[in-house]
Amino acid sequence: MRKQIIAGNWKMFNNLSESVELTAALKAGLSAKDAGCEVIVCPPFTSLETVHTIAKDSPIQVGAQNMYFEENGAYTGEISASMLLSTGCTHVILGHSERRTIFGESDAVINKKIKKALSAGLKPIFCIGETLQEREGGTTFDVIRKQVTEGLQNVSEAELGNIILAYEPVWAIGTGKTATPAQAQEVHAFIRDLIVKLFSAAAAEKIVIQYGGSVKPENAAELLGQPDIDGALVGGACLKANSFLKIIESCRK
Ligand code: PGA
Repeated sequence: MRKQIIAGNWKMFNNLSESVELTAALKAGLSAKDAGCEVIVCPPFTSLETVHTIAKDSPIQVGAQNMYFEENGAYTGEISASMLLSTGCTHVILGHSERRTIFGESDAVINKKIKKALSAGLKPIFCIGETLQEREGGTTFDVIRKQVTEGLQNVSEAELGNIILAYEPVWAIGTGKTATPAQAQEVHAFIRDLIVKLFSAAAAEKIVIQYGGSVKPENAAELLGQPDIDGALVGGACLKANSFLKIIESCRK
């Protein structure tokens, strides 16, 4: 049985003091009960170390939202994998649709980042998903196949064991429109089958595939109840401790 993983993507929200407040509230809420699933929070770079310090002795793991694939050098404004590791973080979101669309990241660049993160010892949360236009045009599966295949180019089966996949239909991110549990399950099953073809049945059985896109306390249980949905990547609803804790409580026990 795969363990479910709930991750919170804070995006460009929460300064240092707000980060302290939110992490402390999550820690207090989680220690009161057994989470029953893994919990990751992904604050902005500026809060990583502080959040990690507060999260110590709690089930909360810390991830970043992006990184650059070079080791170091003249890359003004970029952050490397080893810098992330030095803050205590263990995960990194890569290939988020906002990185793809607003910052022009290609599948090839995302692949370089994934390989660098893996070799440095960070666990990527690798995001994929189709736009509304692609869904309406009937190309959802083609888009997903390309993103997964190119993103995981030259990744070994052993390395795949350290990757979390996150299916996030772009039309459902921050829009309040959630994929129905059946729509999400259909794509998750497709992705798992693709992992069978690209790697092996054993790798596909093991890999965690999160759903993301307007996940909230009201829809979490039904989404997380689907056989191929192994967790959630939560944006808006992770910014309030109460709603994020409720989503965590919705995990398969
Ligand atoms: P949302 O964002 O929950 O606000 O839709 C999810 C994400 O972008 O990861």
